[in-house]
Amino acid sequence: ITPELKEFEAKALTAKEKTEELELKIYQAVKAEIRPEIPDMQKTARALAALDCIASLARAALKDRYTRPRITNSREGRISIQDGRHPMVEHALKREMFVPNDTELNHNDQEILVITGPNMAGKSTYMRQVAVLTIMAQTGSFIPAKSASFSPVDRIFTRVGATDDISTGQSTFMVEMQEVSHILRHATRNSLILLDEIGRGTSTYDGMSIARAVVEYIDRKIHGFTLFATHYHELSVMADESSHIKNYTVSVKERGKEITFLRRIVPGCADRSYGIHVARLAGLPESLLKRADEILQGLEEEGNNPAPVKSAPEKQASPGLDLFTSPIIEELAHMDVMSKTPIEAMEILFRLSKEAKEGR
Ligand SMILES: Nc1ncnc2c1ncn2[C@@H]1O[C@H](COP(=O)(O)OP(=O)(O)OP(=O)(O)O)[C@@H](O)[C@H]1O
Ligand SMILES: [Mg+2]
Repeated sequence: ITPELKEFEAKALTAKEKTEELELKIYQAVKAEIRPEIPDMQKTARALAALDCIASLARAALKDRYTRPRITNSREGRISIQDGRHPMVEHALKREMFVPNDTELNHNDQEILVITGPNMAGKSTYMRQVAVLTIMAQTGSFIPAKSASFSPVDRIFTRVGATDDISTGQSTFMVEMQEVSHILRHATRNSLILLDEIGRGTSTYDGMSIARAVVEYIDRKIHGFTLFATHYHELSVMADESSHIKNYTVSVKERGKEITFLRRIVPGCADRSYGIHVARLAGLPESLLKRADEILQGLEEEGNNPAPVKSAPEKQASPGLDLFTSPIIEELAHMDVMSKTPIEAMEILFRLSKEAKEGR
């Protein structure tokens, strides 16, 4: 060993520690120097972000032919859009042209729009388009439409169907109901509400009953602008019962087994969903589709399709009656009990009880 070597050994062994110490010291010095500038830097970052956002909207406005919406401050709310387009879907389409659509929402006769139409027709796209354009207009942006005027909304509420690929999965019926409950508790007359296929995640009768009750509740208690997409075509009867509710449908052209989606939102309601047609487009096995067609025809012939929900919403003596009329209930409803002798009444009761047990 030599003194020089010994010295070098000490240096080598402590070098790592010393580097770290030095790094920390420099790092802390830099931090101390920056600290007073942090608020300014954050302000700059925010300004740049805002500038980026505004510049991007301006660029999109120019490139994609957006127009300036009118913001009205009238107390009577109104959303009116002519030839509106969905800014993202419009971009995503490759071969097809995006079909523009009008929207009219007001508190007189178009507060709630019930939108029916085949699968894949464009209901969800249309509803989101209205929400996106409202947000854009309210942020101060130009929007993809020929012309439009908006009165500001206080909030936008959405409930998107469990089958939707945009939602992040795990959509159980409970979650759906919790969301609907939240919407009904917080929405106001000035809100925009999108309900995409409420009541899908349970049995047809349950779902349809809930869907209808939700629309009625909004119509009577909330009065917010509502777009309601559904495959329960029976719900279109609500338009006859409230002057605020209007039916809209997405038009299709049918030629034999082929249907063409026209993507036009027009007044009226659909009578079919063409689900099997869409299943065919999706590539399900032909034998399976044939079988589905058979089953559907059978059901339609038997008349086992959900009966139209009749209207007796105010009284609600027994909501089950409307949906599940049976011969027994029919007979009871029409029976003149007072004209029967006790023996006759007993006989009838005996027979009805027997029929009920046999499941009529
Ligand atoms: N206005 C439009 N112009 C052109 N293409 C459209 C338009 N609207 C929708 N599409 C296309 O149709 C597809 C299906 O639309 P969407 O999901 O809105 O249908 P839907 O009626 O909600 O169907 P489902 O009943 O199955 O939920 C979209 O992904 C889009 O590619
Ligand atoms: Mg949809």
